Amino acid sequence: MIIAIDGPAASGKGTLGKRLAKHYGYRHLDTGVIYRAVAKAMLDAGADLSNEMLAVSAALELDPEKFGNPALKTQQVGDAASVVSAIPKVREVLLNFQRQFAADPPGAVLDGRDIGTVICPHADVKIFVVADPRVRARRRTLEARARGEDADEAAVLADILKRDERDQNRPVAPLKPAPDAHLLDNSNLDIEAGVRAAIDIVEAVRAGR
Ligand code: DC
Repeated sequence: MIIAIDGPAASGKGTLGKRLAKHYGYRHLDTGVIYRAVAKAMLDAGADLSNEMLAVSAALELDPEKFGNPALKTQQVGDAASVVSAIPKVREVLLNFQRQFAADPPGAVLDGRDIGTVICPHADVKIFVVADPRVRARRRTLEARARGEDADEAAVLADILKRDERDQNRPVAPLKPAPDAHLLDNSNLDIEAGVRAAIDIVEAVRAGR
């Protein structure tokens, strides 16, 4: 079984993905990390983020062993990821890795922006997570502060809105719900309630409801 979870930055899709994978005993891939790793390689090399050739070679050289690097979590890397991920050839290079991950047994949960639309259009269950931008900004600010980073909530909100705009309006694989996606509004749910709502969706789909 493949479960696709898409949604905007800081909507909580990563946490839901991780928890769903644990619940069902499946593997989990946070696909944002892949684009973040490409972006980090570009930033480290001091490269211009719109340099297609360098971005493609960074994508070809990715080492999945390094996807757990905490340095990929920062807002700067997230912003840069939003820019490099708009380069169609970068997305093309990263497609097979994601599809292969999804296909391996026993099942997988992938979260990102285009899982239900492009990477796994035949996923068994598709969930599109939405949440009020102010709620997302609040959560991101608290997360950053917990990591010891200095975060200003208004600036985080502005960043989230800018990122939404970029991710939704790029010509290739824009953030949008697949026609058969189930909407999950995570604005007023705590983690446990969000996980419960996601499991309810999966179970309803499995039961053919
Ligand atoms: O989910 P995230 O914040 O880690 O993602 C960082 C950026 O990567 C996001 O702004 C857009 C891009 N991304 C993408 O284009 N496609 C995905 N499947 C996942 C992320």
